[in-house]
Amino acid sequence: MKRSKIAALLANPEAIGTEVDVKGWVRTRRGNKYVQFVALNDGSSIKNLQIVFDMNKFTDEQLKPITTGASIHVTGRLVESMGKGQTCEIQADTLEVYGTADETYPMQKKGHTLEFLRENAHLRPRTNTFGAILRVRSALAFAVHKFFNEKGFYYLHTPLITSSDCEGAGAMFQVTTLPLNDLPRTEDGAVDYSQDFFGKPTALTVSGQLEGELGATAIGEIYTFGPTFRAENSNTQRHLSEFWMIEPEMAFYDINDNMDLAEEFVKYCIRYVLDHCRDDIEFLAEHYDKDLIERLEFVLHNDFVRLTYTEGVKILEESGHKFEFPVSWGVDLQSEHERYLVEKHFKKPVILTDYPKDIKAFYMKQNEDGRTVRAMDVLFPQIGEVIGGSEREADLDKLQRRIDELNIPMKDMWWYLDTRRFGTVPHSGFGLGFERLLLFVTGMTNIRDVIPFPRTPKNCEF
Ligand code: 4AD
Ligand code: MG
Repeated sequence: MKRSKIAALLANPEAIGTEVDVKGWVRTRRGNKYVQFVALNDGSSIKNLQIVFDMNKFTDEQLKPITTGASIHVTGRLVESMGKGQTCEIQADTLEVYGTADETYPMQKKGHTLEFLRENAHLRPRTNTFGAILRVRSALAFAVHKFFNEKGFYYLHTPLITSSDCEGAGAMFQVTTLPLNDLPRTEDGAVDYSQDFFGKPTALTVSGQLEGELGATAIGEIYTFGPTFRAENSNTQRHLSEFWMIEPEMAFYDINDNMDLAEEFVKYCIRYVLDHCRDDIEFLAEHYDKDLIERLEFVLHNDFVRLTYTEGVKILEESGHKFEFPVSWGVDLQSEHERYLVEKHFKKPVILTDYPKDIKAFYMKQNEDGRTVRAMDVLFPQIGEVIGGSEREADLDKLQRRIDELNIPMKDMWWYLDTRRFGTVPHSGFGLGFERLLLFVTGMTNIRDVIPFPRTPKNCEF
């Protein structure tokens, strides 16, 4: 008989009355000497399937290995269930035990803290919570591709190993095959990178954007979706050293087109998860965040507020609120400032634009005022910044002047500058932190809980 997934059985009323074959992990077993009930989960759904063992047909000895965490294979008839909380159950005919799990199995029934689960990240996918999160994560990744595919964007694979360190987004992880305890030196004592694998210093990418611009200024509209690496020592609930980023880059888009796309994209992703992961979202709402679904619906049905950094700072200054970090024009906004605007003042997602040029990257389009650039950050309740982007400086002279001012080595940028040297076009793009969006849609509060294997300072297990 062919194995059925539990989600498929639960969704198909016609399966009732047929012989079925299921495989999975035991969540619980209970019962008496006449009948035993096993809750089986195979990862296809937050819901377990109940297996009923008639103890006239099975021996105690046979059922003994069926403890929480054991893996089993059952065949039997799927029947309507009398019990509450389930529509159907299996009356077992055969039982095969693949693997036992004794009382040292760490994921025993319930009541584990998220902290404990983080320490056991190798087994936490077997819990209800992480099963739900991993399914939502997978669905959200699919929604990203679906959205851009439907819009005619091309998926561009930008490199993970790069020799350009010009993004300025964060510290980089160096990539080298040189022997660290016996480094080759040049005559003046510097490390001789000509002997390194690529013949020069290289690192893991902090963003695929600059290469993304090469794609957009050739085939029009592209997006990247891949891991990015930042060696910042920030131990917060919102920072990972390895995170996934979605970066669309579009020729002929100005900053307004860019904002429209960002808003449409985020709403599409949230709608997709609500439509396709309802059971998982309801589970997470029930256990972690009672207002989750309401908050997701609210974002779907409201326009994001759009205002300039200058207007935002004015609101913060006039708020009378005492911030830990004082706010004035020119400062980089802290998460407390962003959250004040979003949660207290507007009570809606906010897109903040036209930041001071000195706190933003070199490639952003310079405004006529000489002080600000056409940047945009999308700020969300609970999370703060989920998206950072901008219209790009398309003018070669202005871009070169900015690169000079910031002392970025021009010789390393020749390939990027060629996009402005030959057939330059207005263009824009942004980067969405995949895990930040996942925090929002799952209602989790710690970013380590929405990625299967988190990497943070001093933590790289499994
Ligand atoms: O604002 P960032 O640094 O922008 C860029 O990297 C641009 N090159 C994007 C672009 O225009 N193509 O990062 C973009 C987003 C942030 O808004 C945030 O959501 C997320 O990436 N992010 C992080 N997420 C988790 N951990 C970190 N350490 C993150 N740093 C940024
Ligand atoms: Mg940013």
